[in-house]
Amino acid sequence: MTEYKGLIAVITGANNGFGKEFVKQAAMRGMKIVAVDIESDFADLEKTAMECGAEEFSAVQADVGLYEETEKVVKYVMDKYGRIDLFINNAGIAQFGDILTMPVRDWLWHSDTNYHAHIYFMRQVIPIMIEQGTPCQILNVCSVAGLLTTRGMPAYYASKHAAVALSECMAYELEEKGVDNISISIFCPGFIQTTLDRSETRRPARYQAPDDPFYQSDAFKRSLAICKDVIETGKPIDGVGEYVFKAMENGDFYILYHPEHNPVILAQTQDVVTNGRPSLAGLKEKVMKIAQEMGIKAASGTGSVK
Ligand SMILES: NC(=O)c1ccc[n+]([C@@H]2O[C@H](COP(=O)([O-])OP(=O)(O)OC[C@H]3O[C@@H](n4cnc5c(N)ncnc54)[C@H](O)[C@@H]3O)[C@@H](O)[C@H]2O)c1
Repeated sequence: MTEYKGLIAVITGANNGFGKEFVKQAAMRGMKIVAVDIESDFADLEKTAMECGAEEFSAVQADVGLYEETEKVVKYVMDKYGRIDLFINNAGIAQFGDILTMPVRDWLWHSDTNYHAHIYFMRQVIPIMIEQGTPCQILNVCSVAGLLTTRGMPAYYASKHAAVALSECMAYELEEKGVDNISISIFCPGFIQTTLDRSETRRPARYQAPDDPFYQSDAFKRSLAICKDVIETGKPIDGVGEYVFKAMENGDFYILYHPEHNPVILAQTQDVVTNGRPSLAGLKEKVMKIAQEMGIKAASGTGSVK
């Protein structure tokens, strides 16, 4: 998709981080924008869309982890415009922790927001785009955490792997059905400076349990501090929106942003086909070797290989 002027973009998680960058890019291309965000971040959404230069926009409040709320968004767009040309599944949350201590409600929060929302929207939006028959684009914001794993963010890794698999399967289905007017892309960056470390402020009521001692534990407080640290020391966000839109215009499916993670992806893929075992020490050794062969510096921060 390369012509956007006057067409309709729907962007979730639009009030902050990548979402805001995508609103700017869609606005620069003359699109009419439906900006979606959850209650906690809804009050500023109109102001954000205006600051991003959007000339025609609507702000819709929805929790994308609830199917009925995604239906509300799609109905709103179809009632108002009768079409959807670009849909960006961007809303997401992140939390550090351990598999054995993270409460089940936090696993559900991750899967509902980071992965189920993509299913909910794609199963409604793709039939609309097929019926429309015009060039359309879906961007699913995943993560490099959907292409590799280490320790520290198990619920996030699992949700992002599911999101990547879902988009790949969707692309296969469209190819098999001969649908050629919809282009799907996935954005898989490493850490970038956004407000992702403030995910707790967007925790919907159904996943809140302030009396659970876990949320007063040192382990939980430490996990919040690590999240803050990795986001604040991530790559600057400037230029990300433009980079992603150019890649979409180029028809790229996998949009990566941190080449320093490529040796990890390759090392783990090699382990799969050579019957290796997940081991942080073993992985580090393999990553260093591959990085040297590729002539690049491997990532060394939390969330990659320590
Ligand atoms: N920042 C990074 O380092 C990084 C790296 C890889 C992938 N990502 C992914 O990028 C996407 C955007 O995150 P970001 O980094 O811009 O963070 P962000 O926190 O700045 O933005 C996320 C947005 O999603 C919204 N949101 C959260 N839960 C929601 C819900 N249930 N319903 C509707 N909206 C909801 C938030 O209010 C916020 O506006 C996420 O999917 C995230 O997992 C981020």
